[in-house]
Amino acid sequence: MTTRSLTDRLGGLAFGGDYNPEQWDEPVWKEDDALMRRARVNLATVGVFSWALLEPDEGRYDFAWLDAHMNRLHANGVAVDLATPTASPPPWFTLAHPDALPVTPEGTRLIHGSRDTYCLTAPAYRSAARRIASALAERYGEHPAVALWHVHNEYGTLCYCDHTAAAFRVWLRARHGSLDALNEAWGTAFWSQRYTSWEQVLPPRVTQWHKNPGQALDFRRFWSDEIIAAYREQRDAIRAHSDRPVTTNLMLPAYQNVDLWALARELDVVTSDQYPSAPGLDAAADAAFHADRTRSLAGGHPWLLLEQGTNTVYDRDRVLAKEPGDILRHTLGHIARGSEGALFFQWRQSRAGAETWHSAMVPHAGPDSRVFREVAQVGEAVARLGELAGSTVTASVAVLHEADAWWALGVDGLPSADLDYHAALGRAHRALWDAGVTVDFAHPEHDLSRFPLVIAPALFLLSDGAAENLRRYVAGGGTLLVQHASGYVDDRMHARLGGYPAEPLREALGIRVEEYRPLRRDERIALSDGTHGTVWSESLRAEGAETLAAYAEGMLTGSPALTRHRFGSGKAWYLSTRLDDAGYAALVARLLDEAGVAPEVPGLPAQVEAVVRRAPDGRRWRVLINHRPEPVPLPEPAHDLLTGSTLSELPPGGCAVLRTT
Ligand code: GAL
Repeated sequence: MTTRSLTDRLGGLAFGGDYNPEQWDEPVWKEDDALMRRARVNLATVGVFSWALLEPDEGRYDFAWLDAHMNRLHANGVAVDLATPTASPPPWFTLAHPDALPVTPEGTRLIHGSRDTYCLTAPAYRSAARRIASALAERYGEHPAVALWHVHNEYGTLCYCDHTAAAFRVWLRARHGSLDALNEAWGTAFWSQRYTSWEQVLPPRVTQWHKNPGQALDFRRFWSDEIIAAYREQRDAIRAHSDRPVTTNLMLPAYQNVDLWALARELDVVTSDQYPSAPGLDAAADAAFHADRTRSLAGGHPWLLLEQGTNTVYDRDRVLAKEPGDILRHTLGHIARGSEGALFFQWRQSRAGAETWHSAMVPHAGPDSRVFREVAQVGEAVARLGELAGSTVTASVAVLHEADAWWALGVDGLPSADLDYHAALGRAHRALWDAGVTVDFAHPEHDLSRFPLVIAPALFLLSDGAAENLRRYVAGGGTLLVQHASGYVDDRMHARLGGYPAEPLREALGIRVEEYRPLRRDERIALSDGTHGTVWSESLRAEGAETLAAYAEGMLTGSPALTRHRFGSGKAWYLSTRLDDAGYAALVARLLDEAGVAPEVPGLPAQVEAVVRRAPDGRRWRVLINHRPEPVPLPEPAHDLLTGSTLSELPPGGCAVLRTT
């Protein structure tokens, strides 16, 4: 089952949002029907937080209210993305199964009153989740409104309780085979941590000082496997009664309690949610970062944006408003990169409850509002893009992304707190986005040979397989940039000996890092080419590589900072510090040039996003988004699907979807 069947069922791209009719009453439902028609809504996510209504007491289901809404939506031409409500168990569940509540690393058992108050490993929770998924699927599996199944919501909640400890031990036995192997893997010879029975082994709960890094990493892996197992149980329960595609909404980009590559493989349609954390151009770049990652997780297949905010940018302790036009720009930013439409959280802004102040498609002010008018315009725009369904996007640059590498930078006791995995990934993507090229993310053990350029921004942990894969990629003609602090540990968090990065990547790079020298917070170190580094520096020896820039101050003066090595038919670059923004942009431009990668649509100025979607039959569409305050002439006039006319210039802040040949 693919997104094609979803878009076939919808008759075009998806547009809509989370719909929580249980917060409202009859007159509002009537208005919802009319407004959904006006906004061209064709897909609504229903039931995400409805467990308490669907199962008011353990084992007693009440579907009558949902039947009515399903039938009403269907009659109104709105298909349903039907959720299992398992992210938010009701209060009765807590009282019946107190052992199924989550426990923090400090040992605090959390109580109901918010959401996500469950422990994934608790048997009572898992069976209750399977039961309600099954009951919903049995009732609605063949319902004509159902176009998609939405298991749970943003899996990720962690727990450190005794159920978790027991399940963790089972997982560790399977992974390591014996207690001796576990002791070896976790390096328990240090600090008197040697385990002599499995009962002594615990999740990484709060302890006196640094936690064991091997234990911390294994716990992440274990938890990810639990999430995937829990998802599969519900998915299989649904498949027993329904032939509609099943998904769960991934939360990107900074929320990583699951190996997204592994979970994505289990989904019939990869879907995700995006909420930027900065306004303006940064929000658009964030949408692209998110969309490129989701498309990559989907293996390049079409995917679907299941949540975004109409008017919300989270900026730490406040929500900022999106600017007029942002709803369309962000929506097209995702569709450009392969999303088969765009949905929002949520349809109607809550009048009460925890997310009263979260934006929605119909705000508190009602339909006579800027936000709803923009939403309706965007719905109209998306409705005009039906012919894009099923088309895909091709990227020529890959940024490497891996769960283990991310988790490895989250353990205690690292040499610097400024090794930020998520920031490094986003920075590499942003530099490429600014340069107008389309980016894929790839796992370091994927076949990379189709990419002329690969950037590895943060591979502190590098498996033997990945080191060999990168060596092979360069030998075969690729251009690779490896950034500082890469290849320092193996997949057990054991330090690489004899110099970093790990062999045989070191051979391909033609360098040897002998000593790491993290910089002080706010310290800048001068390089010989006029750029500066922050965060990190290294004492590096070139072993075959040419030095393109060297450190120009302090004890590292003269030591290579940026190197390039011809290896086999390719080139391997190493950057041993975090370059300043201008220096990094210049480096990326040089790499693109050397690898022969041109902007996706040449001839456009900076801050004009351009991505091409291609259909298997040769049709192509250029999606253009002008983030500039002035009009931008197009390289050549073309037919724009949004306006239905021939366009020769993009207005300030304007968008176009051009059909090309
Ligand atoms: C999402 C979540 C929604 C809603 C939204 C608010 O992550 O799935 O339920 O809480 O955030 O931004």
